[in-house]
Amino acid sequence: MTIFASFLLLALICLAVAFPTYDSIAGLSEREINEYVARNGVAAIPNPPLPLPKGQDGLKLVNDPAHPFIAAGPNDIRGPCPALNTLASHGYLPRNGVVRPDQIVTAVMEGLNLGNDFAKFLCYQAFLMNGNPLTNLMSIRMKTRGTGPDPPKPALIGGLGQHGTFEAVFNEDLFQGFISTSTKFGFNGTYDVNAAAELRNQRLQNSIQTNPQLVFTSPRILSAYSEAVFPTIFFVDGRLNNCQLAIDAARHFFDFEMMPTDFHRQPAPVNFTMVDPLVSEIFNKHPFAPGVNHGKKNFVLQPQTPPLSNFCGIYEDIVIHVVPGQYPKPTGVLRDALNKNLGFFYGAVRAEHNCTQVFPYGRD
Ligand code: HEM
Repeated sequence: MTIFASFLLLALICLAVAFPTYDSIAGLSEREINEYVARNGVAAIPNPPLPLPKGQDGLKLVNDPAHPFIAAGPNDIRGPCPALNTLASHGYLPRNGVVRPDQIVTAVMEGLNLGNDFAKFLCYQAFLMNGNPLTNLMSIRMKTRGTGPDPPKPALIGGLGQHGTFEAVFNEDLFQGFISTSTKFGFNGTYDVNAAAELRNQRLQNSIQTNPQLVFTSPRILSAYSEAVFPTIFFVDGRLNNCQLAIDAARHFFDFEMMPTDFHRQPAPVNFTMVDPLVSEIFNKHPFAPGVNHGKKNFVLQPQTPPLSNFCGIYEDIVIHVVPGQYPKPTGVLRDALNKNLGFFYGAVRAEHNCTQVFPYGRD
C-alpha cells in the first residue's frame, strides 16, 4: 500500500470513529448525546468575531493572491447562496463547504465587508435553523456526514439548502430572467433596486401561480427580500459602489462562484442602516402580506405571522416558533449550545433594532 493510500485509509477510519454512521442519520437520543460527549467532548463554540478594526475595514482588493479562485472539487459542497459559494471558492471559507458560524462571520466581513451585526444576524439565524449545535458545524448546502452526528429529531440539520435543494444548483433559465428583468427595468441594463423590485415580485407571483405548497411567511419573507437587494450592494465593486450590478459581474458570482478579476469589497462595513431602506424600497414598489398557498393560485393570508416591516416580530418568531419547532425540549449540552447561539443571534439584533430578548429555553 502506498503511503498516500494508508493515509487515506487512516483518515477514513478516524472519520468513522468520530462520526458513527448509525447516529448521524437517525438523530441521537439524550443518552447517546451524553455518550457522544463523553467520547468526543463538546465542540468549542467560539464567540462571534469582533468588527474589523478601524483602519482595516475599508476598500480593499479581495480577489487577491492570498485568496485564489479554485473551482469546487467533487467533494466540495456548494449551496443556494452565491456569496457563500464564492467565499468558499476563494478560501475565505473552508473550501469543502462545511463551516463553523464564526468562520462565516469572518468570511463575509473580510471578503465582502458586511458589518459585524449584520453578518452575525444572517449567520446565527441560518445556523440555528440549519446547523448542528453539538458539533458547531453547518453545511452550506445539503445534509452531510461532515457535520457529525445529529441531535434528536425533529431537528433537521439539513444545511443551507434545506428549504429547496434543487434551487441550490445554478439555473440558467432563472438567470436569463434576471438578465431580461435588468435589461427592462435596471439603469443601463444593470441589476439595480428597480430591477430587484420587479424580479422579486415576479418570483412571488410565479410561485403563487405554480407552487401549491408555497409558504411565504416569516422568516422566509425577510430573507427573500434581503437576498433580492444584497447583490446590488455586495457584488458591486467597492470603487464604483453605485448599486448597479453589471450582468458580467453577476454571472461571475452566481454562475462561476468567482469574484471578478481585481474585485474590491465595499468601502465601509455595511450594516442594517444601509440595507433596511433598500428592502423597504423594493417592498413599497410591490407590497404584499404574508401567506401560504392552499393549492395553486390560492394564496391565503396569514395575519398572525409578522409582516416584513416588523423586524422584532420576525426575530421573536424565529426564536419562539422556528427554533423550538426543531428543538422542542433540549437538555444538557444541547440546550447550552442553543442558548449560546440564541444569545449571539440576539446580540446582532440588539444594537440597531432594539428588540426585547426572548428566552425559549429559560435564562441561566
Ligand atoms: C452570513 C451570511 C449569509 C448566509 C448565512 C446566507 C444564507 C443564504 C441562504 C440560506 C440562502 C437560500 C435561500 C433561503 O433559503 O432563504 C441564500 C440565498 C441568497 N444569498 Fe445568501 N447568505 C449570506 C450572505 C449573503 C450575502 C453577503 C449576499 C450578497 C450578495 C447573499 C446573497 C444571496 C442571494 C442573491 C441569494 C438568492 C440566490 C438565488 O435566488 O439564486 N447572501 N443565502
